[in-house]
Amino acid sequence: MPSVFIKTYGCQMNERDSEAVAAQLVAKGWSLAPSEKAADVVLLNTCSVRDFAEQKAIGKMQNIAADVRKNRPGVVLGFMGCMAQSRGQELIDKLPDVDLVLGTQKFHRAADYLDEIISGAREKIVDVAEEQGSEATIRDHLLNGSAKTSVSAFVSIMQGCNQYCTFCIVPYTRGEERSRTIPDIVAECRELVSRGVKEITLLGQIVTSYGKRSGVAAGILPAVESGFQPGGQALNSSKHLKVSQVVPGGKMPPSTAGGTPAATSPFVQLLDAVHEIEGLERIRFTSPHPKGYGDDLIDAYARLPKLVESAHLPVQSGSDRVLKLMHRGYTREQFVGIIKKLRRARPDIGITTDIIVGFPGETDEDFEETLSLAREVEFDNAYIFKYSQRRDTPAATMPDQVPQKIREERNKRLLETVNEIAARKYKQFVGRQVQILVEGPSRKNPARMTGRTSCNKIVLFDGSDRHRGQLMDLKITRAGSFTLYGDPAIVNL
Ligand code: 5AD
Repeated sequence: MPSVFIKTYGCQMNERDSEAVAAQLVAKGWSLAPSEKAADVVLLNTCSVRDFAEQKAIGKMQNIAADVRKNRPGVVLGFMGCMAQSRGQELIDKLPDVDLVLGTQKFHRAADYLDEIISGAREKIVDVAEEQGSEATIRDHLLNGSAKTSVSAFVSIMQGCNQYCTFCIVPYTRGEERSRTIPDIVAECRELVSRGVKEITLLGQIVTSYGKRSGVAAGILPAVESGFQPGGQALNSSKHLKVSQVVPGGKMPPSTAGGTPAATSPFVQLLDAVHEIEGLERIRFTSPHPKGYGDDLIDAYARLPKLVESAHLPVQSGSDRVLKLMHRGYTREQFVGIIKKLRRARPDIGITTDIIVGFPGETDEDFEETLSLAREVEFDNAYIFKYSQRRDTPAATMPDQVPQKIREERNKRLLETVNEIAARKYKQFVGRQVQILVEGPSRKNPARMTGRTSCNKIVLFDGSDRHRGQLMDLKITRAGSFTLYGDPAIVNL
């Protein structure tokens, strides 16, 4: 049987898609090659979010193709994922050595298509069509792979995005929002936990929109053991769950602060259902949209102990004017309000974000607003992106595109501010006791073990393989750059 090497660019969703394709091939008897040089099939799972990511994957494929042409004819080459979806046949026109272009709704077809190409039945295959139900096909896992995957697993809960932020290509590469059903997701999580997984990260382009456009919100889900009934009422008697109501259209009614819980969105209903799984220690999710932080979700942080003390909340800009141009749907004040509520619910919550600098029309004043937001919120980390024009997006043709040099200057200034604040926050951990979930040996130094706190800080310590999968208390002895160092020996002294 052939061997495959998959190289992944971009987000965790892409990581998950690659894992599912690898698992699909392994289930058919394929092996995983240790490198692209030793593989019969090389697949690049691509990202389109910025031009840089696309150019990296194209450059990589050019190098692989040159080597294959010269030294190893017969090796099958493929692009999959977001760039495959947005460029389709164009990729083969540009790189004629490529045999397969597999779109974002076709991952489950990978094995069949590769068989057809290898057997000679078909020479080239480009499939970037939409496929109904494809959101439920990302479900196979490779749990015998790396150490990390057996403790912590990603579960895809939905595909697509209907937000249409003016800078973003994702709605065009991932399609309309489609959600899996709660029973389907819970069954996958249960299976993972039964195989030793302790932490699950629920994945989607906008997880807080989960279920808003499908059967969940419409109340046409099959009844679940945890209490969903067709008709939209959740009749749950579990100790973690309060009586809740499916919200059609996703509009949250006002909170009844402190008293009866606010009605819950489908996403919070999913959190409740996953929280029930015995043996599961931690639930993470990414990425939410600030708009999705209704009081029901804040309330979930307060009442669900397995939900980690960590939130990645992409803000994109600190200027209301730019937020509006971006079509984000919230103001700076609303964003800050959410952070305050989250910190009230969980004082130690770690907050990270994404920020774009140099969006078209962003003035010095707008950028100053972003700097001041970073200072006001004190993010634990922020991923900063220089604005990149993406095809078919409204922002690409907006007036007042910001010169590259200014994008770079702003990137540098914001990075300095974010890093300074983060370094201070990391230092505050020194001397404190934290609990981590041990994931396995550190990649950089396998003599050390690595794990993460509930607030998502990486902690390294001298441990051994028997610690893997354990929740361990450590005392933090030192803070490095976005890493903490801990010592189990001095806990409780
Ligand atoms: N240019 C720069 N950054 C972008 N992102 C999305 N689209 C663009 C773009 N055109 C960033 C956003 C998003 C993250 C995943 O990538 O900050 O949250």
